Amino acid sequence: MTSESVLKKNLTQYLVEQQRQKKTVTADVRLLLETVARACKAIGHAVSKGALGGVLGSLDSENVQGEVQKKLDVLSNEILLEANEWGGNLAAMASEEMDTLHRIPDYYPKGENLLLFDPLDGSSNIDVNVSIGTIFSVLSVPPEARDRVIEEQDFLQPGVRQVAAGYAIYGPQTMLVLTVGDGVAAFTLDKEMGSWVLTTERITIPEDTSEFAINMSNMRHWEAPVKRYIDDCLAGPEGPLGKNYNMRWIASMVADVHRILTRGGIFMYPRDARASGRKGKLRLMYEANPMSFLVEQAGGMSIDGTQRILDVQPTELHQRIGVILGSRNEVERVRQYHEQG
Ligand code: AHG
Ligand code: MN
Ligand code: MN
Ligand code: MN
Repeated sequence: MTSESVLKKNLTQYLVEQQRQKKTVTADVRLLLETVARACKAIGHAVSKGALGGVLGSLDSENVQGEVQKKLDVLSNEILLEANEWGGNLAAMASEEMDTLHRIPDYYPKGENLLLFDPLDGSSNIDVNVSIGTIFSVLSVPPEARDRVIEEQDFLQPGVRQVAAGYAIYGPQTMLVLTVGDGVAAFTLDKEMGSWVLTTERITIPEDTSEFAINMSNMRHWEAPVKRYIDDCLAGPEGPLGKNYNMRWIASMVADVHRILTRGGIFMYPRDARASGRKGKLRLMYEANPMSFLVEQAGGMSIDGTQRILDVQPTELHQRIGVILGSRNEVERVRQYHEQG
């Protein structure tokens, strides 16, 4: 074993090089991302204990989404809050599991960044031992808000304004997938060293695919273009798309997106006709936007059916949106189905 094989490039070296050479991150953002990555190590450790750590099962509480909270939803949220309060690089945080923003307490210095997260994505998979994850997004405090108390509206920035985004996936390997605007890098946790080792320098999504991911049980709620597209996929080689399609649905967005970043595919959680005005299940600010930033940085495409998700101007912190993302040519195909109406 050479020293190189022991000291492989890790998250710190990647971020220092991004800061020094590419100027994509400031020292503040670099520390923020390292702190989030450290919190994800702690979450992954808790997740891996399962029943041995007393972390499975639900609480009696509901979150602002109207979902019954799992113990790990709340524990993961607390780990991220505690890890990120003291650093001096944040002004406030927002989370799927908190009704409104969490300002940095007065006894800590404030920074010029905002951190948003889905602390535990794929909660319905926690108790059945299927891969789950943590999704995060970093925004800058708007200039006009730098000298006043942060308000919820300061978070309502379109996804194109993200400074960084990523996810941790707690699966057979614990991995961190991250973009700071210069492509997408993947790190695998070396649990003996406690180090996030760079294992893929630049992820690119294959432009074409024959694999779709959608929850078929919602079919009766879909809009016509989605129904037509899936019908055409199921028609196989004799159908209008002229090829056989495979289907996957893990029901952890992090795991489905990780598969798509790794081997291509199209992920669809379209807006549907349930609950009036409900624009789909997934949340714009801490699911759709960070995942869309990653997918675009890896050469893919991400739309709500017709519009680029990263261009959407948010109006509420927890607003939902339809999500169709993945291999560029397949997402473009679905966009054309929507154009035809
Ligand atoms: P969360 O666990 O953070 O609430 O997110 C769950 C989301 C997403 O991870 C996944 O793609 C989707 O819910 C699955 O929805 P269905 O259970 O309706 O298939
Ligand atoms: Mn989620
Ligand atoms: Mn969640
Ligand atoms: Mn949830």
